[in-house]
Amino acid sequence: MSNIKPEDFFKNVISHSKEYGFIFPSSEIYDGLGAVYDYGQLGAELKKNIRDYWWKAMVQMNENIVGIDAAIFMHPTTWKASGHVDAFNDPLIDNKDSKKRYRADVLIEEQVAKIEDKINKEVEKAAKRFENFDAAMFKSTNARVKEYQEKIDNINARFKTALNDNNLAEVKQIIVDLEIVCPISGTKNWTDVRQFNLMFSTSMGSVSEEGNTIYLRPETAQGIFVNYLNVQKTGRMKIPFGIAQTGKAFRNEIVARQFIFRMREFEQMEMQFFVKPGTEMEWYDYWKQARLKWHLSLGLGKEKYRFHDHLKLAHYANAAADIEHQFPFGFKELEGIHSRTDFDLKQHEQFSGKKLQYFDPELNQSYVPYVVETSVGLDRLFLSILSSALKEESLEGGDTRSVLSLPPALAPYKAAVFPLVKKDGLPELAESIMKELKFDFMMAYDEKDTVGKRYRRQDAIGTPFCITVDHQSLEDKTVTIRDRDTMKQERVAIDKLHSILSEKTSLQSLLKML
Ligand code: GAP
Repeated sequence: MSNIKPEDFFKNVISHSKEYGFIFPSSEIYDGLGAVYDYGQLGAELKKNIRDYWWKAMVQMNENIVGIDAAIFMHPTTWKASGHVDAFNDPLIDNKDSKKRYRADVLIEEQVAKIEDKINKEVEKAAKRFENFDAAMFKSTNARVKEYQEKIDNINARFKTALNDNNLAEVKQIIVDLEIVCPISGTKNWTDVRQFNLMFSTSMGSVSEEGNTIYLRPETAQGIFVNYLNVQKTGRMKIPFGIAQTGKAFRNEIVARQFIFRMREFEQMEMQFFVKPGTEMEWYDYWKQARLKWHLSLGLGKEKYRFHDHLKLAHYANAAADIEHQFPFGFKELEGIHSRTDFDLKQHEQFSGKKLQYFDPELNQSYVPYVVETSVGLDRLFLSILSSALKEESLEGGDTRSVLSLPPALAPYKAAVFPLVKKDGLPELAESIMKELKFDFMMAYDEKDTVGKRYRRQDAIGTPFCITVDHQSLEDKTVTIRDRDTMKQERVAIDKLHSILSEKTSLQSLLKML
């Protein structure tokens, strides 16, 4: 979709998802629920296949990584120990006229982005005016650009200090000084800034008292930390080893938009890798590269991924990076790789009063391991794959087609079977082919409309192969198999279909690239 504006393309991704049964707004008949989505019949298949690929790459392919499935509800002290009760906050501000609530940091960042836009426009204008234009030189000498840049530096410095000092009055003052207006009401009538905890809480048991408050987990990682010794002992794991988990996480996101990019209920796929203290940087580098390779194996384009190393680190981390993906709305975080030191395990030792040390037989000593974490959102990964795979192609004769060039191993259906016509015994033969193949592959069957229309439907949902049964099939037991991407057809023996689909659509083809 090269000629289409990014915002229009993103709208297409959302409408395509709905039209073909990938994603629906949650409880749509009641007008939906903000930032909560349901996966439809094809979305559930695609999501399952992505999850399976991650699980196999992490757990099945690594003898020193095992997977668990911890509960969503955890003892409330878990979240005190992890720091989430006290510090998992966003600074919020309300506009008194529109009654809309915003993240104060996002309002400020958006204002900074507007000033950056002005700089870029000045630079573009100058580039058009002057031959041999040197952007760096222009930025350092042009008075207007320098003024903009100083303004940005000043806002950033004030904002950083305000956040570090938890000075919410100063955060509000920055919003006032920048004359930020509410996009809905257009006024500057703001409340004070308050910290808002992102965890959802509920109460356990029949009595709703303060002591019964429990939280819906905001990350899956803590279920791994609290189980690390159970797994290490029962699995006789030796350091370095990893524990992987996939599952739901919940965050009461205030700025929840961009479809399934930022949701209030979402799924994470996390792996905590327990290592000897002092070796964590080696493993951090290893997992950064290993995870990038996993994303690249999907074949969606090397240029769509990049690392963003964090300069400002959370208090428990000694290194952190994001793998960013080029979404339709720009490069954004897809996965985080964090060297979390021994912070979490030490906190759990302190709050539980239980020792969480590992006895290292090689060193003949006990220690609390360091942890390197890989953490990716399954829904965000789904969006990265879907939006990179969706294309609108022009065909000969002025026709166009929507095609979802998903990696075949992840596609909801691996193949569709069509009888050319609904008579002469062709449906019966097509159904017998389906019956054989569906033991091992998700198969679709379609006998409605012209074959051309049936091809288009399968292209739009990403089915990599269409198998057509025609009159010749009755005579020589062959069918045509059409490739979604090249649209080329080949005649093959029916008894070869199983091996063709195995070779081209199994997860093995992706796993072998790692
Ligand atoms: N245990 C570490 C952790 O949770 P994070 O950076 O907060 O780190 C990890 O989240 C990943 O989870 C992100 O890179 C993103 O892919 C996904 N994620 C986080 N918040 C999300 C949300 N509200 N909606 C969808 N995915 C989200």
